[in-house]
Amino acid sequence: MPGGAGLIRDDAGVAFVPDVAVGERVRYAERGRRGGARQATLLAVLEPSSSRVTPACRVAGRCGGCDWLHLDRAAQTAGKEQLVDDALTRIGRFDPAVVAAARAPLVVPASPAGAARRRVRLAVDGAGRAGFFARGSHDVVVVDSCPALDARLQAALPRLPRLSPRTTLRLATDDEGRVVAAVDHARDARALVAAGVVTGAVVTARDGDGDGDGDELVVGEAQVRGEVTAGLFAATSDAACFTQATRSGGRGIIDAVLDAVADVGGDVRGRRVLELFAGSGHLTLPLSARGALVDVVEGDGRGVRFLRDNVARLCPAGAVVVRQAFIDGRLPLGDGAPHVVVADPPRTGIPGAAALFARVGQAGAAGLVLVSCDPATGARDLRAAVDVGFVLQRVVPLDAFPGTHHVEWVASLRRGVER
Ligand SMILES: C[S@@+](CC[C@H](N)C(=O)[O-])C[C@H]1O[C@@H](n2cnc3c(N)ncnc32)[C@H](O)[C@@H]1O
Repeated sequence: MPGGAGLIRDDAGVAFVPDVAVGERVRYAERGRRGGARQATLLAVLEPSSSRVTPACRVAGRCGGCDWLHLDRAAQTAGKEQLVDDALTRIGRFDPAVVAAARAPLVVPASPAGAARRRVRLAVDGAGRAGFFARGSHDVVVVDSCPALDARLQAALPRLPRLSPRTTLRLATDDEGRVVAAVDHARDARALVAAGVVTGAVVTARDGDGDGDGDELVVGEAQVRGEVTAGLFAATSDAACFTQATRSGGRGIIDAVLDAVADVGGDVRGRRVLELFAGSGHLTLPLSARGALVDVVEGDGRGVRFLRDNVARLCPAGAVVVRQAFIDGRLPLGDGAPHVVVADPPRTGIPGAAALFARVGQAGAAGLVLVSCDPATGARDLRAAVDVGFVLQRVVPLDAFPGTHHVEWVASLRRGVER
């Protein structure tokens, strides 16, 4: 199952068909090609798989959000593990035996509450109603409920006022019961607060120069607490910040990163950890709590503002140095050689990964810990690390988004040590 779609072999070759389960007999119609690959639409399931379930969502199949609601948990787990293995072997060019030894079983959420999304981005249609983009288009599927969301965000949906047409609404919530928003226009921020749907909203479009330095309008109390570190620290953020969307995903990544850092770097107390793509401190604060001296790099001005504030309040003085910089192969590594490098890049992966890892290796780092939210780019970055002398140790996949084909991983590599 590449992407979220099923792969079907027929007389004409292979075709990608969404909404199918492994082993089913189905009828489908070809609807064109993308990147040379035949794309098809499912017409009928002739012999359903025993792993097929009825989605507990009224807009399943139309909404572009969750593409695996028709699969039971076991099939989702198997599918995600297979996506990881395929990416590592086909894109990362790792030997299947290396993958079999390195890849851990998928870490799945312990509870439905852990899997609920605490941050959501909605699209607003031409009539001012919020929803999700439909599958494969920019049409908006208007929703007044979404089972993937935390109960507080679910409760907000039917109470939303009409907003400025064709804009974006981001919502976030926290354990203290706040619901906050980020919108494009001040009138929408005021309307949301006046309707009692949110405690506050930040208007990000005012920050027109794109540097994220914050010349923006805030209406009401627009910050949430604890979401940056999945409830471990009272770190603040808002609905326009990147934070991990689910508790299970956020906490799972922290646990796996701390384990991996200990595995490749041993006791990091008093040692330098270079953390790249830090956001507002999701991994910074736990690493600092382990006693590491954390040298942190993040490119987004908004993230850096929250990061600096969170570090100042929650980390020992002088233990964390924050830099705002664009990360690529030329990034200065900072003062002193890093003992371990931790990177949590966006979906597109690490720009200039090969050059960056080569310099990290030359500086004598013991290991790398690489988080990925996209197996294709993650595998490409792992290959770049291995090509300059790092050795893959472990890949821990995490199911941060049940009901979708998305899968994250935390991979660890040691410099020049064979398994
Ligand atoms: C996947 S998020 C991870 C953030 C954080 N580790 C977390 O889990 O909350 C990636 C972060 O990298 C930042 N970013 C993306 N590309 C970047 C680049 N080339 N240089 C610096 N930062 C970048 C984004 O602003 C974002 O905060």
